[in-house]
Amino acid sequence: MAEREHWKNRSVFIMAAIGSAIGLGNMWRFPYIAVQNGGGAFLIPYMIALLTAGIPLMIIEYGLGIQTQGSSHIALGRIWKPLRFVGWVAILCALVINIYYCMILGWTWEFLFDISGIGTWGNSMAASNAHFSNTIHISSGPWDFETIYWNLVFGLFLTWIIIWAIIKNGLSGIGKALLFTVPLPVILLLILLVRGVTLDGSVVGLNYYLIPDWGKLSDPKVWLAAYGQIFFSLSLGFGTMIAYASFMPKDAELPNSAAITSFSNCCFSFLAGLAVFSVLGYFAVATNSPIEKVVNGGPGLAFIVYPAALAKLPVYVNFFAALFFITLLLLGIGSAFSLLKTVSAALSDKFNLSMPVSTTITACFSFLAGLPLATGAGLYWLDIIDHFIMAYAITTVAIVECIAVGWIMGAKKFTEKVNKTAEIKIGPIFSCMIKFVTPTILAYTIIRSLTEEIKTSYGGYPGSAVIALGVGTLMFVLLAAMVLTLVSTKNDKEQGIA
Ligand code: PFF
Repeated sequence: MAEREHWKNRSVFIMAAIGSAIGLGNMWRFPYIAVQNGGGAFLIPYMIALLTAGIPLMIIEYGLGIQTQGSSHIALGRIWKPLRFVGWVAILCALVINIYYCMILGWTWEFLFDISGIGTWGNSMAASNAHFSNTIHISSGPWDFETIYWNLVFGLFLTWIIIWAIIKNGLSGIGKALLFTVPLPVILLLILLVRGVTLDGSVVGLNYYLIPDWGKLSDPKVWLAAYGQIFFSLSLGFGTMIAYASFMPKDAELPNSAAITSFSNCCFSFLAGLAVFSVLGYFAVATNSPIEKVVNGGPGLAFIVYPAALAKLPVYVNFFAALFFITLLLLGIGSAFSLLKTVSAALSDKFNLSMPVSTTITACFSFLAGLPLATGAGLYWLDIIDHFIMAYAITTVAIVECIAVGWIMGAKKFTEKVNKTAEIKIGPIFSCMIKFVTPTILAYTIIRSLTEEIKTSYGGYPGSAVIALGVGTLMFVLLAAMVLTLVSTKNDKEQGIA
């Protein structure tokens, strides 16, 4: 087996983990999930999800990666062989979400190419809404493909070429890319935030965002959405953090690194929420309508609200707008390459492929699989697939990880190993979380949401689309994971998981 690569030092690892965590999930997914789930009401389950699942799982994933020096099928398989299957489920989810993640980056290129007209198309919320629909060519429903739009294919292609080029030669490319993909977005978000909160009426939006609506907390869907968002945002349950941690030396520090990653990511999301809601407040006051009516919450939110805010800047509108979309691209690219790395590292670990080969195979497959998203039905497909992967597959992986470490390996054994090098020691609270609290909450939310799902079709889409795309994607993931588990390779034997 080839010698495993390692990060240059701990800071590069933490930067890489933060780069994976902070991405479109913070600026694009978080605000619309918050709008869909009651604005301010969402922040409480979100914080609880961070403490009860985000940080404990981050510690578990870092621990597994560092201790086993392998991808998640190896990490989980070492605890108990049948769990290799769950490891592959996680890795295949990374493959699936990267397919649509890169399409969103493809849309972003389109917005960037159109930037000179922002003064017109970002002029009002309605204009920005119309521009979004036209740019990504939204059709009438998930089965109405219209045609394949070559401009979107081009954006998708460009994105894949870039992340392929960064990853193909190993970790050194990532280290260099991080210098751009992490600091710049933070600066830009601060500029947007200052602009947002100084707009007239921003207070209305901020109140909506920050004042909790306690009634919403009894809705299990809000909780499931909060846990799903924490997993998406912290890149947990996909094997990504396991893969990244596996490139650290075996004696690396862990709980403090996990806390730094988690808190920086959630602060970024919180600030992105402040920026979006202050702009929504401005438009609610300007158009004299309630905030929920200002914009349709959904995957288009960020592409509609931020441009409308940017067009309101007093000076250099085009410059800042271009900077904004470049930032979105940088943020997204940092996460997309972590997803690609997760899959290609796992294939290399299993089939002994070199990094360039496994990266090229994964990138070509994913680009081709993403082509249906470049049609008029793309947005709907993306929304349905995202929901099913996040609500069911990832949440289940998270439960299994907790049980594997908490019960099968034993929380005590894991804690002792981690504490040997820990700057902040973990103890009974962590053990209690992963053994009881986290799996119970997650199992409860899954069951509750499943019963709702059976009663009403997700997002009001036709049942056929929900079954074909949502359930179909889950089936694909399960079948492919089964095959990858059952096919045994020389590397599996060497790793002791055959
Ligand atoms: N955390 C990334 C974001 O918030 O955009 C998305 C992501 C990256 C999810 C890597 C999962 C993952 F494994």
